[in-house]
Amino acid sequence: MTPGSLLLCVLLLLSVFQFRRCVPVCNNQCCRFVEEFPVRAKKLRQDYKQIRDFYEANDDLDKALLDQSVEDSLNPSPFACQAMNSILDFYLRTVLPTAVAGVTEETTDLKPHVESIQQIFDELKSDVTRCRNYFSCKKQFDIKNLNQTYTQMENKGMFKAMGELDVLVNYIEMYLASKRLRHH
Ligand SMILES: *[C@@H]1O[C@H](CO)[C@@H](O)[C@H](O)[C@H]1NC(C)=O
Repeated sequence: MTPGSLLLCVLLLLSVFQFRRCVPVCNNQCCRFVEEFPVRAKKLRQDYKQIRDFYEANDDLDKALLDQSVEDSLNPSPFACQAMNSILDFYLRTVLPTAVAGVTEETTDLKPHVESIQQIFDELKSDVTRCRNYFSCKKQFDIKNLNQTYTQMENKGMFKAMGELDVLVNYIEMYLASKRLRHH
């Protein structure tokens, strides 16, 4: 093999890798955010798996918090990203801080996972906010109804909301999957 043909081989190989890494073709941060969400969803579910049993065991209310109206609000539509933003904000301001504050000596193992979820949700919310135009966001969802239900559940609301965290991740994933590039 001549040095020339070797170089050609290497270049060819590189271009193959280059090609593979460029599929799907994203030319902006919002596209990458959508395409790479499955990685975050996986991390969220890993953290959630470590805490689920505790929160579900302490959730003894039959009524759902993330109910049909929440699911409907997150169904792909111009209003869904506003709803997603509000619900993430609700978890960040109300549910997750209560969960962190509720960690005791016996449940101290939960804390790093709740905090990890907090951090991912925080980044997620920034990305959703930043990508408002990309998602063509329109306002409609009102977090007040959800907050009212939560407040009526009194000290059980946090367990309910934490126990339903997987439902929320499914909704978000469904929404973001609807935004994925079609050829994917
Ligand atoms: C939820 O309701 C509580 C109690 O009424 C209120 O203090 C809080 O600001 C509300 N949060 C949101 C996100 O509306």
